[in-house]
Amino acid sequence: MFPKISKITENRQNISTATLIESSDQIIDNRLTQDEKRYFSLQLEKNEDCSLLKVPILLFYKKVGTSKEHYLALEAARTAGSKLYSKLKSAKIESVQLQNFCAGDYLSAFLEGLLLSVYTFDKYLKEKESFVLNEIFLIGEISPSEIDELLTLTKAVFAARDLVNEPLSYLTAQQFSKEIEKLGEIAGFSVEVFNKQKIEALKMGGLLAVNRGSIDPPTFNILEWKPNNAKNSKPIVLVGKGIVFDTGGLSLKPTPNSMDFMKTDMAGGAVVVTTLFALAQNKIPVHVVALVPATDNRPDGNAYVPGDIITMFDGTTVEIRNTDAEGRLILADALSYAKKYGPLLVVDYATLTGAADIVAGQYAAVAMGNTPANLEKLKSTGLDTFERLIEVPLWEEYAKPLKSKIADLNNLGVREAQSTIAGKFLEHFTDYEWIHIDSAGTPYLNEADSYRPAGGTGYGTRLLYHFIKRSFAM
Ligand code: BES
Ligand code: ZN
Ligand code: ZN
Repeated sequence: MFPKISKITENRQNISTATLIESSDQIIDNRLTQDEKRYFSLQLEKNEDCSLLKVPILLFYKKVGTSKEHYLALEAARTAGSKLYSKLKSAKIESVQLQNFCAGDYLSAFLEGLLLSVYTFDKYLKEKESFVLNEIFLIGEISPSEIDELLTLTKAVFAARDLVNEPLSYLTAQQFSKEIEKLGEIAGFSVEVFNKQKIEALKMGGLLAVNRGSIDPPTFNILEWKPNNAKNSKPIVLVGKGIVFDTGGLSLKPTPNSMDFMKTDMAGGAVVVTTLFALAQNKIPVHVVALVPATDNRPDGNAYVPGDIITMFDGTTVEIRNTDAEGRLILADALSYAKKYGPLLVVDYATLTGAADIVAGQYAAVAMGNTPANLEKLKSTGLDTFERLIEVPLWEEYAKPLKSKIADLNNLGVREAQSTIAGKFLEHFTDYEWIHIDSAGTPYLNEADSYRPAGGTGYGTRLLYHFIKRSFAM
C-alpha cells in the first residue's frame, strides 16, 4: 500500500518530476521548451503550483513562500505533496521524483504531504480504488532514517484514521482493545486490557456509569512503551477518550450533524494509541504509558439517568445532570488512575465538547493545563506539524458551575465556556503536571482538505509524537 521510497543523486529524465522552488528562474528542467518555461512562470505568478502533463510524464512545480514564517512554508510544502498526489492519480502515474530548490529543509515536508494523501478506507467497498503510487524517488538532503521515521509516523496516522472510520458495528470497546493489541504486537509496546469484572473490582464508577446502558462491556486499556534507554525516569502518561459511539445516552443527541458522526468519539483514544505506536516503532528513547477507557454511551433499561449520583474511582461523588457529558466521567477515572505512575506529565486528548468545535473548527484543537512551559512547547509543535492549538486559561471561576448541593461535583456546569468547564471538571482528578486537549472539530471531515481526507483525519498523532520526541527524548 505504501510506495517504495529511494534516494537518487540525479534527476532521471524518464520519470515525472515535482519541484519546490522559490522563484520562477529556478524552472530549469531541460525537458521543457522555452514556451513551456514561460507558461510555468506565468502560471506561478497567479497560482502557487502548476503542472504540465507531457505524456507519459508529469512536470509539477510549487512556489513556496519561503519568506513567510517557517511553519507556513513547511505547510505549503505538505500541501504541494497533496496536490501532486491528485495530479498523479488523475493521470495514473505511478512513480515520481521529488526535489527541492528552496533554501531550507522542505523535502521531507513535501514527502510527508504526499504520503499522507495516499490513504483510502475501502474495507467495506466492493469496488476498491485501483490507483497505486508505487515509487517515490528523492533528490536532495534527506537521510534514510528520516524517511523511515516519516513512513512509520504516516502509518500511525493511517491507523488513527482507520480506527475513527470504523463504525460501531465493527469497533465495539472490546474490538478497540483487540486493535490496540494488534498495534502493540507490530510496534513492540505492551498492552494490558482490563475487562468489566476488573473495572468493577477497581470501582471505576465513571466508566461503569457510562457503560450501564450498553449491551457491550467496557474495557480499560493500558499501553506501555518503556525502552531500556529511556531518557525520562518518571513516565509521560497519555489519556485518550475511547467512547466508541456517543448517542448521548438518555440525554439523547439529535441525529443530523450530531449523533450521526459520533463514531468519532474515540478519536482521542486513537490519537494516544497511535502516538505510542509511532514512538515504539521508531524506537524513541522515552518511557510513555497510554490509558484508554472505552465504552459506547447508550440509552437502555439500565442506563444511568440524570439525577444519579455516582462514585468515581478516586471516591469523588458526581451528580449526573446530563448523560451526554460522559467523556469527562471516563477520562476522570483514567486521570485518577494515572496518579499511580507518579507521572512527569499527563496529556489527555478527547473529543470532549461541541464548544471546542465552535471555538476552533477543523483548524485547531483547544488546549489548557497547569504547566505553562509544556503548553508553550506543545503549541509550537502544533505550528510545526500544523496540528495547531488554541489555549484557554483554567481560571478558578470556571469551576463554580460544577458545584452540586448533593454531591462533590455535577457533570454539566453551564453552556457558556463549556470547554473550560469540562477542563475544570478533569482538573479535579489531577495532582500532577497536566495538559488537556479538547479536539471536537478536527478528527473527522465531511470533505477532504489538502492531505486530510474526508472521514477520519488522524489529527493529533503527529502533534503528540513530535512533542514527546522533542521535549523528552533529546
Ligand atoms: N462527544 C461529545 C462532544 C463532541 C461534539 C464531539 C461534537 C465531537 C463533535 C460530548 O460527549 C458531548 O456530548 N458533549 C456535550 C456536553 C454537554 C452536554 C455539557 C456538548 O458539548 O454538547
Ligand atoms: Zn456526549
Ligand atoms: Zn462524547
